[in-house]
Amino acid sequence: MTADVAVVGGGVIGLAVAEELARAGHRVVVLERDRVGSSCAAAAAAGMLAPAAEADTTPEVTTQLALQSHRMYPEWVARLEASSGVQVGLDRSGTVMVALDADDLRELVHLEQAQRRFGLRTQRLSGGEARKMQPSLGPSVVGGLLLADDWQVDPRRLLQALRRSAELAGGRVLEGVEVQALRRQDGSWRVGVRGGEDLAARRVVVAAGAWTPFVLPAELPRPPLRPVRGVVLRLGSGLESSHVVRTPRVYVVPRRWGETVVGATVEERGWAREALAGGVYELLRESRRALPCVDEMPLREVAVGFRPAIRDNVPAIGAVDEEGTLFVATGHYRKGVELAPLTAAMLRQQLEGGRHPMADAVDPRRFAVLE
Ligand code: GLY
Repeated sequence: MTADVAVVGGGVIGLAVAEELARAGHRVVVLERDRVGSSCAAAAAAGMLAPAAEADTTPEVTTQLALQSHRMYPEWVARLEASSGVQVGLDRSGTVMVALDADDLRELVHLEQAQRRFGLRTQRLSGGEARKMQPSLGPSVVGGLLLADDWQVDPRRLLQALRRSAELAGGRVLEGVEVQALRRQDGSWRVGVRGGEDLAARRVVVAAGAWTPFVLPAELPRPPLRPVRGVVLRLGSGLESSHVVRTPRVYVVPRRWGETVVGATVEERGWAREALAGGVYELLRESRRALPCVDEMPLREVAVGFRPAIRDNVPAIGAVDEEGTLFVATGHYRKGVELAPLTAAMLRQQLEGGRHPMADAVDPRRFAVLE
């Protein structure tokens, strides 16, 4: 089999890139090791689009990227929904960031300063005002911020929409195809597949999340990536309004169709898959402090994901070889869903010989001299 572009990885970044390239007329094939939506980070993610709530804990350059991508979201989603027929649940009600004690209130003051620096909308709320926005909040909430620019989308639906849209634009998505090796041969890439036939592609984009280093040829520089585990709970009913609730320790994302996602742990445990009781306990304890109704909700799922983290918490998007034939799009850490539209646009631009103004900031080779 041959393709113009082989995309390794059918997660939100790989599919967003493939969809963008297929729409632009490139002959694209996506090689996904499992099934789409079964093991990628986005399948576990809550889907917060949160430039404001994370403004003080995210590197400045990543926030700048997130803001650009955020502005693209409404139009991007509208196009995907129209082409795929899949509703992805973009909800722009906003987020209520709440404080449960005096320490939390002081943290919100710092956060508010960071938000204003980026020109993000932020509005102080008393405990009562916070409860008016989200009536499910309990009496322990002493104040908060309304973050009108922090939205949510359903990542599992988004994966379906991207896949469908990519396929309708002529892309191919192959599941159960594990890439083992990439070799240069006769001016193109031979993509070696476990137990299957090699594929030839003029260009390759590796968007395999935290697994990306296992796919790249050993002789090329690679960003220092590691998996940072996140455990997320899915509860079987919604909240009284669709505002996302966050405290400094937990986030709670209600879906309109009666599901609530609680996240997330941030764990340095390598590739260990099994969620720990302690992590689940913390998520439940902290969410029910703000939202007592959590007690009565069915616990439907404990999902585990591996965020692809690079040491500087800035993604790596661009070519890793001198010739510009092998690209990566990874390292999105806590912002893969948020950064998907911008990553797709940047990657396409670079693959077609252009250069986005922020390409240097996300250059995958920025570590080459240090490693
Ligand atoms: N984007 C939220 C998280 O990684 O937990």
